[in-house]
Amino acid sequence: MEHLFEFSFHNPTKIHFGPNSFSKLGMEIPKDARILMLYGGGSIKGNGVYDQVIKVLTGRRLIEFGGIEPNPTIETLSSAVELVRSEKLDFILAVGGGSVIDGAKFVAAAALYDGDGWDIVSGKHIVQEALPVGAILTLAATGSESNAAAVITNATRHEKKVYYAEPARPRFAILNPEVLTSLPDRQLENGLVDAFVHVCEQYLTYPVGALVQDGHAESIMRALKTLADTYAHRREHSWCQNLMWAANQALCGLVGAGVPQDWATHRLAMELTVLYGIDHGRTLSILQPWLLRETIEAKRIKLVQMGKRVFDLSKPEAEDTIAAIESMYRSVNMPVHLRDTEVNDPQAATRIMQALREHGNAALGGHANLDEAKTLSILQAACSV
Ligand code: NZQ
Ligand code: ZN
Repeated sequence: MEHLFEFSFHNPTKIHFGPNSFSKLGMEIPKDARILMLYGGGSIKGNGVYDQVIKVLTGRRLIEFGGIEPNPTIETLSSAVELVRSEKLDFILAVGGGSVIDGAKFVAAAALYDGDGWDIVSGKHIVQEALPVGAILTLAATGSESNAAAVITNATRHEKKVYYAEPARPRFAILNPEVLTSLPDRQLENGLVDAFVHVCEQYLTYPVGALVQDGHAESIMRALKTLADTYAHRREHSWCQNLMWAANQALCGLVGAGVPQDWATHRLAMELTVLYGIDHGRTLSILQPWLLRETIEAKRIKLVQMGKRVFDLSKPEAEDTIAAIESMYRSVNMPVHLRDTEVNDPQAATRIMQALREHGNAALGGHANLDEAKTLSILQAACSV
């Protein structure tokens, strides 16, 4: 049956890209704004980003809140919400990676909501209004700088969850590739793989004749594959700027417009972060190849297309494409099994399965009909000692 595209596309984030983009910050924030500047564990103080931002915003009313952790928790963010209320702040400026930007989206929405903040994350409260958010991106990976998603952890409940809040989508985002030079290799590797898997989740389903979406997806994945092949050049500006733009394009809404999607890798992978503290990008490289093997029949046609168009394989079988993906991950030092990490838990598959059941994600269904048996089989393959 013919697949009809049906979507509304509106991405209002204004992006300023390039080495001079910090100079645009002043004009993007209203002169009379009372700004809350959010940041993480302090990397921005070591690499000069903090100084640059403060310089541009000299004379503005600005209060800082640092200490947002990777995989931001509602516990930490609630203190920032209190600060917004007590100081009557009205503009949230995130300076950091996906964690800080996701945290800013939460603070912007929670500050205007009287109920329990977790209602926003759990979906009990649908966000209708939020304070304006702006983002200065320091890590290329999530695409959070121009999308409406935020991923928040509840440390008390041992739960990590994604939700969408259109009003909290950043009004502007500053993407200066020079800030990536202070990133440890590990974060560049995470970012490359996270962006790649974002495209896969919107592409690796079944063909629907989406010429534009498929073409865009393939060009982003080819770019990321080239960056993996040229990983030795990762400290060059040209490498960094391509990663930054690829990661943004991977999750700004274009690739997935009107096409079937399957976010199973992300949904399952969340638990590896909650249980073992594994970086988001690494949880994806551990699980995705095994998930693709388990769901290969449902994804076969697109895997073959991807093998030809992304990996330049001449007559690929779906299995060859999965092997190529796995080998690309290995080439940038990413784990492709839990045993490649420091975690050594013989009960890992059982524990992850239990957490997925508790969070309602053990049988995601979807086009590949993921049931509990298939989920367990993926976890056993990816996590058994
Ligand atoms: O905390 P600081 O000091 O800033 O250090 C961070 C952190 O330790 C460091 N870092 C960031 N920029 C740096 C830098 N270090 C040196 N130089 C720089 N320029 O990197 C570490 C990791 O930062 P983090 O923000 O956690 O990484 P990432 O951007 O990968 O974000 C991961 C979070 O985003 C969520 C993930 O689940 C995770 O919570 N995601 C958000 C998505 C979205 N909003 O659309 C989609 C993704 O699938 C993802 O789930
Ligand atoms: Zn991701």
